Amino acid sequence: MDERTLVDGHGRRITYVRISVTDRCNLRCVYCMPEDQKFRPLPHLLTREEISRTARLLASLGVTKVRITGGEPTTRPDLVGIVSDLRDIGFPGGIALSTNGVLFPRMAHELLAAGLTKVNLSLDSAEAEHFRKMARRDHFEPVLKAIDLALALPFDSVKINAVVIRGMNDDQILPLAAMTFAKDLSVRFIEFMPFGNNDWKDADFVSWEETRDRLLAAGYELTPITRTFVAGPADEYTVRSPLGEHRGSLGFITPISDRFCDTCNRMRVTQDGFLKGCLFGHRDVDLLSPMRQGATDEELLSLVRRAAEVKEERHPMFVGMEKRLLPLHARNMSEIGG
Ligand code: 5AD
Ligand code: SF4
Repeated sequence: MDERTLVDGHGRRITYVRISVTDRCNLRCVYCMPEDQKFRPLPHLLTREEISRTARLLASLGVTKVRITGGEPTTRPDLVGIVSDLRDIGFPGGIALSTNGVLFPRMAHELLAAGLTKVNLSLDSAEAEHFRKMARRDHFEPVLKAIDLALALPFDSVKINAVVIRGMNDDQILPLAAMTFAKDLSVRFIEFMPFGNNDWKDADFVSWEETRDRLLAAGYELTPITRTFVAGPADEYTVRSPLGEHRGSLGFITPISDRFCDTCNRMRVTQDGFLKGCLFGHRDVDLLSPMRQGATDEELLSLVRRAAEVKEERHPMFVGMEKRLLPLHARNMSEIGG
């Protein structure tokens, strides 16, 4: 096998890595972390140098695309430096950022100049009051500004991610979808997933089909840009609604009703330096301790290969599952890295 490729124990090539740079956040989204979330001591987080070393090793094994996640990456003072390190390493598939947008406007220009190519913003509601309920903070206006700024700058793509929870923001599906009418945005609805101590209940779950049906019932016409309805949901749809032809697009992210594990090409690096095969995996490999104990690149590369080798074949979620029966670990999304 080519020395420069990373293939997991199920024959899948790993080409995409999501690196979480912090567990801290300036919001407290209900699906992600509790109000009183405890954060790790700062020395437990990967330093900028450790992040770039990890990224360089992964790139040397054929990882071509990287996404920076959190917690909230913009709470890290050296985020711009991290992005420029990633640019210097070279990720032809792009350098993406997942952010809640609150602090994004302060550094958007610098991030662009440093080499950031794609921005995903979390927004679960198109109204200030709903926002406060979901994010437990009052930062709706700054996030709207962040979206407009991101659109005004020459990023390759700007996407919105909305987690749909029944009784919480399912009445926001149409207002969020309507945002794509005038703006060249992609709004993606995400199925709510159970984690450690989030309060996931079967009754809260809104499947992507239900979200789609609500849009269709409101007169939306969705035309797949990528895949077809038959083979599971497309990543992206062009949109016509009673408003007219939309400039932006809609999408569905369906970890529960349409497990996309077969074609999974990704691994994650947690903020405390574990390489994780699967979001719900239990076989994380510690890279940070060896790095701090003076491991060589060769030694780290063999740990990376081991983490890929033990990557789970699929995650345990499915429609109709019972949360208490899932082998979930105690970590929240903010600790794993969205
Ligand atoms: N279910 C689905 N998506 C989640 N995210 C965080 N927690 C969950 C969850 N329980 C995603 C959201 C958020 C990003 C950081 O991670 O899209 O925007
Ligand atoms: Fe923060 Fe993102 Fe978690 Fe919300 S989902 S609390 S913005 S890390």
